[in-house]
Amino acid sequence: MVMSTGIGIGAAQAAGSTLHEAADESNRYFGTAIAASRMNDQQYMNIANTEFDMISAENEMKLDALEPQQGQFNFSTADQMVDWAISNGKQVRGHTLAWHSQQPGWMQNMEGQQLRNAMLNHVTRVAEHFEGKIHSWDVVNEAFADGSSGARRDSNLQRTGNDWIEAAFYAAREADPNARLCYNDYNTDDWNHAKTQAVYNMVADFKSRGVPIDCVGFQAHFNSGNPVPSNYHETLQNFADLGVDVQITELDIEGSGTSQAEQFRGVTQACMAVTRCAGITVWGVRDTDSWRAQGTPLLFDGNGNKKQAYNYVLDQLNSGDGNAYEGDNGAGNPGDPGDPGDPGDGSCTVTVSSGESWGDRFNTTFEVSGADDWVVTINTGSGQSLQNSWNADVSGTSGTLTATPNGNGNAFGITLYSNGNTSTPTASCSSSDGDTPAADDCTVSVTKTDEWGDRFNTTFEVADADDWTVTINLGSGQSLQNSWNADVSGSTGTLTATPNGNGDSFGITLYSNGNTSAPTATCTTA
Ligand code: XIL
Repeated sequence: MVMSTGIGIGAAQAAGSTLHEAADESNRYFGTAIAASRMNDQQYMNIANTEFDMISAENEMKLDALEPQQGQFNFSTADQMVDWAISNGKQVRGHTLAWHSQQPGWMQNMEGQQLRNAMLNHVTRVAEHFEGKIHSWDVVNEAFADGSSGARRDSNLQRTGNDWIEAAFYAAREADPNARLCYNDYNTDDWNHAKTQAVYNMVADFKSRGVPIDCVGFQAHFNSGNPVPSNYHETLQNFADLGVDVQITELDIEGSGTSQAEQFRGVTQACMAVTRCAGITVWGVRDTDSWRAQGTPLLFDGNGNKKQAYNYVLDQLNSGDGNAYEGDNGAGNPGDPGDPGDPGDGSCTVTVSSGESWGDRFNTTFEVSGADDWVVTINTGSGQSLQNSWNADVSGTSGTLTATPNGNGNAFGITLYSNGNTSTPTASCSSSDGDTPAADDCTVSVTKTDEWGDRFNTTFEVADADDWTVTINLGSGQSLQNSWNADVSGSTGTLTATPNGNGDSFGITLYSNGNTSAPTATCTTA
């Protein structure tokens, strides 16, 4: 019996000839921002249509564009853009519901409760308007200060109270329960940066309290004064480990030639090394379309030609490195690796966390691992009844509830009326094909650890068997330098590891040869 890890199986992969086809090889999207003013430029629309499968409106879904007068919404331009995207088979990132910048004049002059209400009304009305059409919303944009303080950015929204961000997320979830809800910011790329830490702490807090957040957007505007940090992969992984998807949302890198291309490749590689990195969006089509046009920061030149950076990104996407996390492309394409309902899933576990509580209700969140085709059985306490749920189909109202995937990944939540009983429900998980773990199943978890100039370590932990064989798929260029606590054969491509009497945890050192993405692995037993 073969079990895969959450990291995905290194299946044989065909090369994609466009950015989105190549990204799709690892179950990711590749997007661009487009501007309404350029939508009758044939060359521009051709590139946008051919290369990308995720669309952001560069300015047309911001607060000033959608609600120019209080209570009077103007959706026509944004609708045209969204309709163009959807009718061409693309998905849409909504940008952005709440932000201190690009507010309409009437909002800029508002403060306090009046502003809080106006902001929440904007979030609700806009998210409702686009309901069902948005892959991910940037619910809140740029709410943290630059520099070393780690503080919130001062703004009229922040001055309405520190809970303005979570209030926006709750309103967005209610208005469009199927969109992924992201916090989006810049200068959050370097793990050691105070702003990065501050956003991380907020997301950790939100997850622990059940505030509905699904993803973190990294704008990724880079230039020589703010280069791609060497720990970028670590940053993305640390956020992903909180149980959110990460997305690169506004990528541009000023420069030219090989140095620019290498940095674009590095960002692509960092995303591909993180299973929960769902995709990359570049902030414009051609250099001349960029908000920073002088920095020539995009993948196509002003004449619409592919730049070296384009080729490096395409090659990296085609490298066959790590597959994306199950379901993080939304419902996914049938047959995408790891999408709900795919064969190959086995046992599963569910983690239950208590969330927010109010007078008569409280939230509980559930995170499933080990399968995508799960059924979670929830045992509620006496008196409790279901008020609401998100990111799963939940049947039943009291006693035993049953939750199954609805295309929104493996984390979901419920709101229960407590009726005086606020105890957290318990839950168990089974795979819907009825498979229970047999004695000869095994799983292997893969962790990338130390990294030096030319080498890095990866450790493997096998569960549920002692007579295992772990097959390790190296990235292109990588080769084995060293191993410990297992017999490892092979040196490039596919390695095979078996026990050498030192237990079920072992490790390898790989020469990266420029490719520092973690290998993937599968486990089988006799
Ligand atoms: C920029 C647009 O590209 C410009 O056209 C506009 O004048 C200003 O905003 N962070 C964001 C984006 O979240 O919305 C910004 O877009 C770039 C920085």
